[in-house]
Amino acid sequence: MKGKKIVLCVSGGIAAYKACILASSLVKAGAEVRVAMTENAAKFVTPLTFETLTKNAVVTDSFSRETPYEVTHISMAKFADLVIVAPATANIIGKAANGIADDFVSTLLMAVKCPVMFAPAMNTAMYENEAFQENMAKLKKRGAHFIEPGTGLLACGDIGKGRMSEPEEILSYIRKYFLDKQELTGLKVVVTAGPTRERIDDVRFISNRSTGKMGYEIARAAADRGADVVLVSGPVSLECPENVRRINIESAADMLEAVLSQFDDADIIIKAAAVADYKTAEKRDGKIKKSGDMSLELIRTQDILALLGERKNKQVLVGFAAEMENLRSNAEGKLIRKNADMICANDVSRSDIGFGSDENAITLFLRGERQIEIEKCSKYAAANRILDEAFKIYRERH
Ligand code: CTP
Repeated sequence: MKGKKIVLCVSGGIAAYKACILASSLVKAGAEVRVAMTENAAKFVTPLTFETLTKNAVVTDSFSRETPYEVTHISMAKFADLVIVAPATANIIGKAANGIADDFVSTLLMAVKCPVMFAPAMNTAMYENEAFQENMAKLKKRGAHFIEPGTGLLACGDIGKGRMSEPEEILSYIRKYFLDKQELTGLKVVVTAGPTRERIDDVRFISNRSTGKMGYEIARAAADRGADVVLVSGPVSLECPENVRRINIESAADMLEAVLSQFDDADIIIKAAAVADYKTAEKRDGKIKKSGDMSLELIRTQDILALLGERKNKQVLVGFAAEMENLRSNAEGKLIRKNADMICANDVSRSDIGFGSDENAITLFLRGERQIEIEKCSKYAAANRILDEAFKIYRERH
């Protein structure tokens, strides 16, 4: 569960105390956890408990002035890979089912696009109530997960169904959910990331602003989905994601060599690297003095993506395009010219996404003049959407 971004919504029931254990277990399992609470939940357990356990601020109030410039329910919704509502009262389930957004948690539930899980907790009669059952059925139909409550002695003294699942059961449900998304098992995915460096002399080089974040998130997402991942990386300051084999390179020529060595048995190749288009014509040793000739002769580097496009047989080939203008025509041009199966186009003139940012908005250009918009979201979520489409192309061919 390492690195998974989980939003835990706590609504007002006595089982809120079990949500503390759940938050702690999720953190111990390596997840990044943020907690949202209803006002009633905060009467059972204080936000401070969750803040201490998760090391993140807890949100209860939609109109809090603590982060006045951030629309918190939207930023939290975009942050999440998964939302879990535990305990989920009849009230919050009723609101979610019927599109009511009158407090922070219900507003957040309306804004999320990632999967949502509910762990109901209530009295047996409430659980069996027709209105509740209809609400639960509605949410299940829309894709929500329900972690069935257990049967036993309830806080009200009744014996019956309605006791929230134990934190370990909820944790294993979440673990299984992430494991089930392993459809890339058995596939080899090669990802390139980061900038390249083209030497000018022994102390200087030509490079670019790429931080490698997008490529690293693609590698991480592919590994999370079970693929055998090789990450060919330019110089960046990022940690290698878990279960990913990294090959470190410097120049475009190194990257070409590394990618070719991995190409024959690769199933999907995603070229997120910002490869330098030019290198110096001549290799200069030592340090060029400022008193000398000030001009540098540049020559083109090999276009790796285009070369792979010529050589590919069954491999799915995905390229990136960083554009300042004419996004569509430039990206479609690259798709055809480089014989790729998909181009992920970034508008690098936008300062809120792209280079160095944790978020991205991408347009995917596919064969047959198809276009898919990935609205601004975390780079991990964007990575998963890119992988969804690359995997669809892979399946069409096999
Ligand atoms: N690319 C590559 N080898 C290069 C240059 C680029 O493999 N020498 C790949 C990048 O990894 C990316 C795609 O080509 O997947 C697009 O790169 P980009 O720099 O946006 O486009 P260019 O083809 O260089 O075209 P232009 O400079 O006209 O934008």
